[in-house]
Amino acid sequence: MDPIALAVIGGTGLYRLADLADVETLQPETRFGTPSGPVRVGRLAGHRVAFLARHGEGHSLPPHRINYRANLVALQQIGATRVLALNTVGGITERFGPRVLACPDQLIDYTWGRVSTICEESGTEVIHVDFGEPYTRALRREVIDAAQRANVALVDGGCYGATQGPRLETRAEIARMRRDGCDLVGMTGMPEAALARELGLDYACLAIVANWAAGAGPDPDEVITLQDVLDNVAAASEGLPALLRAL
Ligand code: HPA
Repeated sequence: MDPIALAVIGGTGLYRLADLADVETLQPETRFGTPSGPVRVGRLAGHRVAFLARHGEGHSLPPHRINYRANLVALQQIGATRVLALNTVGGITERFGPRVLACPDQLIDYTWGRVSTICEESGTEVIHVDFGEPYTRALRREVIDAAQRANVALVDGGCYGATQGPRLETRAEIARMRRDGCDLVGMTGMPEAALARELGLDYACLAIVANWAAGAGPDPDEVITLQDVLDNVAAASEGLPALLRAL
């Protein structure tokens, strides 16, 4: 059987890859426990592609309860070496309004209390991976080139700020994140990216902007509703199948 060309981790609003054919369902167990749900492996554009819903297929896991280590190790165990993370986010700066797709190149971690390393258990050798460039450059390049070939608009770059959730942020928190240099805000980008680096997986993020972050849009009093988030994710995701086929 040919190797898995790409593993995709889906975020809020993205629980299946619609055009995955001949799907086989795997239930891997890992040394870190059980992943968020089954891994669906199928064919896409002539390649084997794996898909895992980060929050579970019924969106039952909040961001801080996701077993990020089990998810990544499960994908690694079935032979994946390249992971494309789909992350639903809020937009902070002007290029990142609702329905924009972006491939960020930096991140800031504001999460706390999450197991954020594979060296957690006592007795494991501690590793200090380089994380200056948190996403794999070559995979990011491929994502950006694929978007161009597929004629799908994608912003190249941006800084992803990972917050704890599950609540959304206050306006003051978003104002601080803007001052810090964040363009996007989401709840699941970390520790996933760091764990991928520790595990030696290629990893890039495809961020789907669902809403203006608190106070960031033209109407500072706007209330963010789940329906708006889901509607915008659905609309922004229209270009995804073509982008993934090109990738
Ligand atoms: N903040 C954090 N995470 C998010 C948001 C947001 O505004 N929108 C979608 N995911």
